[in-house]
Amino acid sequence: MSQDSYFEKVRAQFPALTQKVHGKDWVYLDSAATTLKPESVSQRIYNFNKYEVSNVHRGAHTIADKATVNYENARQAVAEFINAKSQDEIVFVRGTTEAINLAAHSYARNVLKEGDEVLLTEMEHHGNIVPWQLAAEEKKAKVLAAKVLDNGELDMADFRAKLSPKTKIVAVTACSNVLGTVNDISTIVKEAHKVGAKVLVDAAQIVSQEAVDVQAWDCDFLAFSGHKLFAPFGIGVLYGKKELLDQMPPYQGGGSMITNVSFEKTTFNDVPFRFEAGTPNVGGAIALHAAIDFVKSIGFDKIKAHKKALLQAATEGISKIPNVRIIGTAANKGPILSFVVEGAHHSDIGQILDQQGIAVRAGHHCTQPLMKRFGITGTVRASFSVYNNMQDVESFVKAVKKAQELFQ
Ligand code: ALA
Repeated sequence: MSQDSYFEKVRAQFPALTQKVHGKDWVYLDSAATTLKPESVSQRIYNFNKYEVSNVHRGAHTIADKATVNYENARQAVAEFINAKSQDEIVFVRGTTEAINLAAHSYARNVLKEGDEVLLTEMEHHGNIVPWQLAAEEKKAKVLAAKVLDNGELDMADFRAKLSPKTKIVAVTACSNVLGTVNDISTIVKEAHKVGAKVLVDAAQIVSQEAVDVQAWDCDFLAFSGHKLFAPFGIGVLYGKKELLDQMPPYQGGGSMITNVSFEKTTFNDVPFRFEAGTPNVGGAIALHAAIDFVKSIGFDKIKAHKKALLQAATEGISKIPNVRIIGTAANKGPILSFVVEGAHHSDIGQILDQQGIAVRAGHHCTQPLMKRFGITGTVRASFSVYNNMQDVESFVKAVKKAQELFQ
């Protein structure tokens, strides 16, 4: 079967794509914001809600046991998916932002001292900036950011120059949600470890693009959201090396995260349960398992090749349109294409594309420091996933051309 016909079968698993918007076939190019959900994931959520709803870890009945087993199986599936050493290293949270907040609250606040530094990069999402700022401010530590080059690659010389024994934490995205730049995480981790810093990887964008191997990267923490990986909203993961999680105090207090509570003294549960106070998103975790199975059924070799072909065609297509400037031209890019149309506001272009049935994102993409770095207020961003095809790319390029002509 050709690559194209294989992916038409994948596409058929996404009923959302059969709808019309403004009377046009819907072209969904906003997968960096969230992915559509395949039938298998929707069915899994439906069946859980219809037949399997029960709380976990505390029921005295059969269906509660089943929910607990399925919830813990989901944890095991995540551990295997990112090659963690053990499922104890997987904490279920709401999403990438909560995962980073957990690490910043529970790890950073515990280790940072006055004069210490947290090193970020200029391409970070606000979710990987603000939690560190809050912790650093409290501890009188400093937040630095390594520079981004004009082509959107990380300035590794600046990154190395800013690393020092004062650096206690490096927090970096594996793939920029705006530029598409895929960072060399192995090198970043090696360099950071040389000065004794721990590394958190924001894997929100990379996790649906390529196989993540936390042991090969040797990162200390990693955060991602289920909803960017074909799973529902409200479920995500913080991976942490067990020896680090073990040292970390609780993030939130409540049920499940304790071993014993009295008014005199409360003792806390082992990891990962110590970080999962209250009733977790059981259905979300189980659906994330189904989403991982969906990704595995295709395989990252095929996924990467498909998205690369789409990105290449889209890049070539819009490069030919006058006054279009691509923001982010790194050699190693994920399927994200940001651009500005000189003389036109990004929101206007976004709206004009929407009128053609084409869904993109327009704005600062929660990366205001990066926008400042490029001297712009926002971009139009198209992002591609397994369910897109060359027809989508053609419609997109045609629509951008039409929009650009309106501003001449
Ligand atoms: N962080 C998501 C994006 O880039 C929401 O669109």
